Amino acid sequence: MNATVAVRRGDRGDRDFVRDLGRRSATSSISAVRAARYDDVLEAFERLAQFVYGRRHDVLIAEENGERVGFLLLLYDIPDEVTLTDQAFVAYTAVEPAARGRGAGRALITAVDAYARAQGLRYVSLMVTDDNAPARTLYDKAGFVTERRMMTKAL
Ligand SMILES: CC(C)(COP(=O)(O)OP(=O)(O)OC[C@H]1O[C@@H](n2cnc3c(N)ncnc32)[C@H](O)[C@@H]1OP(=O)(O)O)[C@@H](O)C(=O)NCCC(=O)NCCS
Repeated sequence: MNATVAVRRGDRGDRDFVRDLGRRSATSSISAVRAARYDDVLEAFERLAQFVYGRRHDVLIAEENGERVGFLLLLYDIPDEVTLTDQAFVAYTAVEPAARGRGAGRALITAVDAYARAQGLRYVSLMVTDDNAPARTLYDKAGFVTERRMMTKAL
């Protein structure tokens, strides 16, 4: 059953929330292809967040009954590497485990379109781990298609 979710633009006051939820959900993006150290995965999330905050970006915050339940980090200055086409890039998104399955993820990814259009952008892009079924389903249903693949071979 879906709750009523509101999405707003975040600010610096949301950074602790983003850090806490991001760290708690970061392992969802580990693939079965490579071994991962938990501390390194946390460090990778910290670095990603700092990278985003240092660039042209928005943080979107999803709320249920005025309480934060999810976030999305959106970059505006990372063009497609093959064509140099301008695009919005979803760097990361997460919903509180207890609030999942109620439409917050969908509300966040749907809200991205208006933020991207407001920046004059005509594409939204992102990377998702193949093994992350919930996220892949979310993006599939939101209209994303696979444009190219990152491939890895374990040696
Ligand atoms: C991926 C994530 C953001 C989805 O958030 P959510 O609020 O649970 O998603 P929603 O409730 O809005 O669901 C949207 C769609 O995704 C799909 N989905 C969500 N959870 C799913 C699951 N566990 N299994 C399969 N599909 C799922 C559903 O099909 C749903 O569509 P429907 O309502 O039409 O059935 C959430 O699971 C999460 O935070 N995961 C950990 C962090 C993460 O993996 N982030 C993505 C990094 S790329």
